[in-house]
Amino acid sequence: MKPVPNEPRLPTRDEFYDLANRLEWTPKYVSEEELFPVDMHGLPYLPIDVWAKTYDAPYKVLYREYVKNQRQKDQMVFSVRDAAARAELDRKLDPVYHGGAFCFHITAIPIPEYTAVVGELRMARFGKAGEWRNLATYGSMDETRHAQLQILLSHDKININPKFAYAHKLFWVDGWVSDFARKFFDDIITAADAVENALMLTFGFETGFTNLQFVAYAAMANKAGDFLFGTAVASIQTDESRHAQIGHPVLKTYADVAKLSGG
Ligand SMILES: [Fe+2]
Ligand SMILES: [Fe+2]
Repeated sequence: MKPVPNEPRLPTRDEFYDLANRLEWTPKYVSEEELFPVDMHGLPYLPIDVWAKTYDAPYKVLYREYVKNQRQKDQMVFSVRDAAARAELDRKLDPVYHGGAFCFHITAIPIPEYTAVVGELRMARFGKAGEWRNLATYGSMDETRHAQLQILLSHDKININPKFAYAHKLFWVDGWVSDFARKFFDDIITAADAVENALMLTFGFETGFTNLQFVAYAAMANKAGDFLFGTAVASIQTDESRHAQIGHPVLKTYADVAKLSGG
């Protein structure tokens, strides 16, 4: 009997995920150390083959899925923003909440979100695993969205209270919040290498602080009747809980290597 040739078939979603995220190349004209300088990648400096085998993110999303999800999130927030403007929501909220806890968050957070764009891009270029670099690319787009969305929401409120302009000028004034924020985010993000960003920004700060802050603020906003901020902050938090997972596999890679070498 004549053999029947196998029908060509498209890879499944999971096969394509692995194919796309584990695609690496062998540089011919530069060494691995030149392509991933230690100052930008960080220490301990493991060979790229080790990263390719061990980096395994728990949150697996393809670019096509990412774009679709993000579009839906923005659509929801912007339609709620329109409804809030029509209902003159800002003038109906408790001024203690509006000029206090809400104003503090929405003016202190947007510029640090821009520093997080830098941190994510550093990992997107200098992380040594394909999956790490791809997830950090999405992370940089997330953080751009967070910074721009919260600056926009602050700008909407300036005619109610001029304090909301601090969303734009936070890093360019001197005060305890801005001094602390500049130094802290320089340390863990803008002056940090890819490994430090994975461990201090995503594993430490985003898991330990951002997720808690955004969940608590969404609950507080909903209780105060601020359905716009509740929706916006919940939508941001869904991004944070995804890219906060970038650091776990970095830490696990180091733990696995230490275990194998008896360390
Ligand atoms: Fe963010
Ligand atoms: Fe983040």
